[in-house]
Amino acid sequence: MEINGKTRLLGLMGNPVEHTLSPAIHNTLAEQMGLNVCYVPFLVESGKIRAAVEGAYALNVLGMNVTVPYKQAVMDALTGLDPLAEQIGAVNTLVREEGGYRGYNTDALGFLRELEQENIRVEGETAAVLGAGGASRAVVFSLVKEGIRKIYLLNRSFAKAQELSKEVNRCYEREAVVPLTMEDYKKIEEERILAVQCTSVGLAPESGRCVLTSEDFYRNVHTGVDLIYQPSETMFMKLVRQQGGKACNGLKMLLYQGVTAFELFVGQKAPEEMSRIAYEKLCELLKPQGGM
Ligand code: ATR
Repeated sequence: MEINGKTRLLGLMGNPVEHTLSPAIHNTLAEQMGLNVCYVPFLVESGKIRAAVEGAYALNVLGMNVTVPYKQAVMDALTGLDPLAEQIGAVNTLVREEGGYRGYNTDALGFLRELEQENIRVEGETAAVLGAGGASRAVVFSLVKEGIRKIYLLNRSFAKAQELSKEVNRCYEREAVVPLTMEDYKKIEEERILAVQCTSVGLAPESGRCVLTSEDFYRNVHTGVDLIYQPSETMFMKLVRQQGGKACNGLKMLLYQGVTAFELFVGQKAPEEMSRIAYEKLCELLKPQGGM
């Protein structure tokens, strides 16, 4: 699409932003859907987040994504909040409305969409979530919202797992989340569980690592989802597959957080075929550069 007088701007604010894959997702969808929008990265210095949001509004920017380290701080600068984003306490998508922007968390929505795409059931199931940081918060809240029966939340620092569990259980008024230390995986009673890897352990270049390596744990995992997508097959995924489970990485979560944000920005559903083209673009960009 040629940039002209009617082009609407979309963007990403964060620090750093130069390695982002989001422009590839949004600009591919825009091209496929024939929409006159353009998505660019904006490096925002700390302390300038409110100025950036107000400036974007004044410049008639249609929508913005927000990445680290501003997903919490940006919430103060918004005119509205989606209830799931409010529960999670983090926003990654700003959708233009009268007077400002409304915040959404499409990391959570993208994760649920990945599960749906992969035919992974949530309702009535049991899960083990590894990690209790920012990424884990979005995963845990979205799984409980979708009616998961129980989550064992395993984390190196037990206090953080305890804190997040308390918060989610209070919010949904049921004892859905049980905090554990990593070694406590032996306390998991269920024999068929979904496992979601939400720590940063195993991320390239430390691809050989996994936060939990005991075979006993993986024997009960029917499906494992790693939020990491670099490398495309993580050690966690290998451990799941070695015990006969199905495994997927986090690239579809990344894709669908973008697709869902794009749909909110432009007010139209993206046909699945077009999301697939954006996915192929991501795979191409992530392909290791050959040669010595
Ligand atoms: P993110 O936004 O990616 O979730 P984060 O909020 O910093 O990042 O959370 C990182 C998660 O990875 C935490 O669960 C962290 O465990 P702690 O809460 O105990 O710190 C986990 N993590 C990071 N490095 C780890 C390591 N070497 N061993 C075990 N867990 C680790």
